Amino acid sequence: MKTIDPSSYQNIVFFTGAGMSAESGVPTYRGKGGIWRQYDYEEYACQSAFERNPEKVLNFHDLRRRAVLDCHPHEGHQVIARMPSATVITQNIDGMHQRAGSRNVIELHGSLWRLRCDHCGTRKEDIGREYETLHCSCGRWLRPDITWFGDMLDESVTIRAMKLIASSDLFISIGTSGTVWPAAGYPALACDSGAFCIEINPEPSGATSFDLVIRNSASVALPELFRMK
Ligand code: APR
Repeated sequence: MKTIDPSSYQNIVFFTGAGMSAESGVPTYRGKGGIWRQYDYEEYACQSAFERNPEKVLNFHDLRRRAVLDCHPHEGHQVIARMPSATVITQNIDGMHQRAGSRNVIELHGSLWRLRCDHCGTRKEDIGREYETLHCSCGRWLRPDITWFGDMLDESVTIRAMKLIASSDLFISIGTSGTVWPAAGYPALACDSGAFCIEINPEPSGATSFDLVIRNSASVALPELFRMK
């Protein structure tokens, strides 16, 4: 199998989706065992559901937080964390890259470990097993600071991500089905910008034509690709 020497590249971007965390035990969204097969997002993951029943939506996210806390980063996360100058652009909200030690992490879809108040704009880190409080000091319900169905992404975050991708010379897409936009367009942006583009995914995704496709799981492919085994 082809191996990559990271020192040959100036700007490395790892672009990750739910498949990156699958071997840690965090369920993906689509496919077998996927969250959206078990839960109706219209009941749990959109603004109107939150407005109808904030407690139900917060309980669902609390459940997810507890499940994630019982999971741990795997060898693939560690391989990425051993490249401190690389950037991780992730669709994941689980914080697993940071737990592995990655510091340059851009979270496109927010974080399970943060709440916000859309009334007064307060943001609150909350990293415990259970939410410390469900209400803002202004009295309103706090909501998970994540991107739900129908939400816009934070423009400053997407602009930063796109600039980094456009200037990357090595782009590795891992474990994303490539169905949710704008992130689904990022592999094509990297390839069109001249980066060497790699996909790691046991299944074909809907994404662009990569220079190298590795049909294997993240925890196996990453140590092999970067010869860290
Ligand atoms: N290693 C690598 N890839 C894997 C692994 C693994 N061990 N296991 C599964 N995969 C791949 C699957 O083949 C699939 O292509 O991970 C992908 C997971 O796809 P999705 O569940 O659609 O996850 P993702 O692409 O991250 O979803 C994007 O959708 O609902 C929203 O906001 C949510 O961020 C999420 C977004």
